[in-house]
Amino acid sequence: MGRSEARAGGPRIVIALDFPSAGEALAMAMRIDPMRCRVKVGMELFTAAGPAILEGLHRLGFDTFLDLKLHDIPNTVAGACRAAASHGVWMVNVHAGGGRRMMEAAREAAGGGDGRPLVIAVTVPTSMGRGDLLEIGVTIALSDQVCSLARLSYDCGLDGIVCSAADLGHLRDRLDAGFLRVTPGIRFKGGTDDQRRVTAPGDAVRAGADYLVVGRPVTRARDPLAVLDAIERDVAAADD
Ligand code: C5P
Repeated sequence: MGRSEARAGGPRIVIALDFPSAGEALAMAMRIDPMRCRVKVGMELFTAAGPAILEGLHRLGFDTFLDLKLHDIPNTVAGACRAAASHGVWMVNVHAGGGRRMMEAAREAAGGGDGRPLVIAVTVPTSMGRGDLLEIGVTIALSDQVCSLARLSYDCGLDGIVCSAADLGHLRDRLDAGFLRVTPGIRFKGGTDDQRRVTAPGDAVRAGADYLVVGRPVTRARDPLAVLDAIERDVAAADD
């Protein structure tokens, strides 16, 4: 069995519930369908609502991705991963930039067995471009930075990475097929908001994405389910 098979499978669309309160997040969750998507709880919502929001979403039948992008000393990150596992989250993430010892500690703290959370690593946020990397002292090409962080995450026993679908082409032949690729920055034609590198849902799947993280295109839509329908159709067409 691959490292992540135990909890992979199921809906591939993950809706980012980036809301300032539990009430708004739960109201949105009630308008979508746990049979068709998972949900992501990020820093804003978790900081505002605490672990109770995870419980509320689990009660509605959703799998949760706790997107805190942990990046600290190994002991602190391990403690947070242990706490995430105790809340029964489906997926949790760390920053690959935290390095080997931090990622190994995170993976170990998530525990073993089928019910453990998947642990994935953020490579380069999809909001960052070449100029942003140069400013923080990363002078190699963005795609090379993504590749080296992906390789390190894999070597540390993690289940996958978060990266832009646009970067997946460079990774295709370099990583184990079972290593999960989670891609935010999903947009149909039109606005990009604050994302720099965006991809349409079907194109992300064609590039090798296992899970698509979609926030504002769904959560700010007048009819979120209609947008979910459109994303599913685009994904299905790519799968054919
Ligand atoms: O609204 P939008 O579709 O841009 O939301 C994307 C979500 O994915 C946000 O919650 C953001 O925090 C998250 N994310 C990202 N880039 C990463 C990792 C996570 O945009 N590299």
